[in-house]
Amino acid sequence: MTGGMGTAETTITLNGAEVTGRAPADTTLVRWLREQAHAYEVKEGCNEGTCGTCTVLVDGRAATGCTTLAVQVDGAAVETSASLADGEELSPLQAKFWETGAAQCGFCTQGMLMSAVELLRSGVEVTPAVVREHLHGNLCRCTGYQAIVDAVVDAAAEGATR
Ligand code: FES
Ligand code: FES
Repeated sequence: MTGGMGTAETTITLNGAEVTGRAPADTTLVRWLREQAHAYEVKEGCNEGTCGTCTVLVDGRAATGCTTLAVQVDGAAVETSASLADGEELSPLQAKFWETGAAQCGFCTQGMLMSAVELLRSGVEVTPAVVREHLHGNLCRCTGYQAIVDAVVDAAAEGATR
């Protein structure tokens, strides 16, 4: 729905709550989430689809928020890492990230978590190789990836889905 001076109204169900915003029609989803919905857990990195730090789930599928326009997901359900914890209590996956040291500077973490959640919910058998393949679009400059792979495999072994 376009209106005004090249702006568009977009309504997204963000982590279960409806949010409506009006922004220039070319606003990326990651920018919209931060500026319209104050979802600052979603980080903007490369802004060209290569680092994965802006990854969120759109109707359950992982998508990079910098290569998706907000208007494209009008009416969709978007999930970010803010949906994972239960109040103060970390989700099982987040707890594994904490235990294994999979989150260091934390810049990549929310995108890693959401890509991993997509995998955990998929029902496929989660092996280290599967995790590496699934997370290939998420770059981390800190951990060398092994701790992240361990965290996701451990979470899957416990049946975690978040
Ligand atoms: S900021 Fe979106 S992939 Fe890097
Ligand atoms: S923990 Fe720093 S980029 Fe991954």
